[in-house]
Amino acid sequence: MTAPTPQQAPLVDARNADMAAAWNGAEGEDWAARADRFDAASAAFDPALAGAAGIAAADRVLDVGCGAGTSTRAAARAAPAGHATGVDVSAPLLAEARRRSAAAGLANTTFVWADAQVHPFDPAAYDVAISRFGAMFFGDPVAGFANVARALRPGGRLALLTWQPLARNEWLLVIRRTLSAGRPLPEPPSDAPGPFGLADPDHVRRVLAAAGFSAVDLTALPGAVRLGADTDDAFGFVTGLGPARGLLGGLDAGTRRAALEELRAALADHETPDGVLLGAAAWAITARRR
Ligand SMILES: C[S@@+](CC[C@H](N)C(=O)[O-])C[C@H]1O[C@@H](n2cnc3c(N)ncnc32)[C@H](O)[C@@H]1O
Repeated sequence: MTAPTPQQAPLVDARNADMAAAWNGAEGEDWAARADRFDAASAAFDPALAGAAGIAAADRVLDVGCGAGTSTRAAARAAPAGHATGVDVSAPLLAEARRRSAAAGLANTTFVWADAQVHPFDPAAYDVAISRFGAMFFGDPVAGFANVARALRPGGRLALLTWQPLARNEWLLVIRRTLSAGRPLPEPPSDAPGPFGLADPDHVRRVLAAAGFSAVDLTALPGAVRLGADTDDAFGFVTGLGPARGLLGGLDAGTRRAALEELRAALADHETPDGVLLGAAAWAITARRR
């Protein structure tokens, strides 16, 4: 464990320290400032999470990596006689989550600033744990999901949205192809913490079984992300994303200009009357605590 600092959540596992720093720094600030944009980008997958979670009126729900809390608030509305607790390691995102939940007048939400891998949740306190693209970041996924399992009652349900491998996610392939400007980029590993940390079904089954879950099931969700209303709007959104900023940072001015033009052209190719839509593929993962 590392000692708490103003930048870090209490009790952050050393293996999550870099991730906690990122989500409490520029990445978290960006997500908090543009929460509506991020919500809109992945909204096509929201109904699948609701279906997988099957939240009942009196359920006590834990939302792992809740960010600005959109899925926590949806859970709270689905459980008017229950409660939804969002846990996240990012202070700026939790501030936004609390602000939005108060504005919505929701009395049955709570937000906890913590590393979900190690936070001492009350044992068996929840009927269902959900996560909308927020559970792929554990430095030790078996420990993280075992901690979530302990927070669930025996027989409690787990429902996650995660990304399928990069090769099936055109939106990120396009960003990488255009902004790499010909540089070879390493493939994101499918069993390391990050957006593709739960992309490999065999890895997911191994992790969840070792963490105390059974009946693990993955449903492929083909879909699209909506990057903006039109090309300009999408260009503004994409160029502020962490991966895009990272790639642009290493380019000289001329190469950067050409790469940005290529990105803009690629986004324009995907402009539709419903916005700029690029292919995406997620998993809906369900399991039960043994
Ligand atoms: C891709 S964002 C998704 C946020 C939110 N679920 C949504 O759909 O908008 C990933 C979230 O996981 C959180 N996170 C990463 N590692 C975490 C950890 N160990 N414990 C709790 N939250 C974590 C981040 O702070 C971030 O808010």
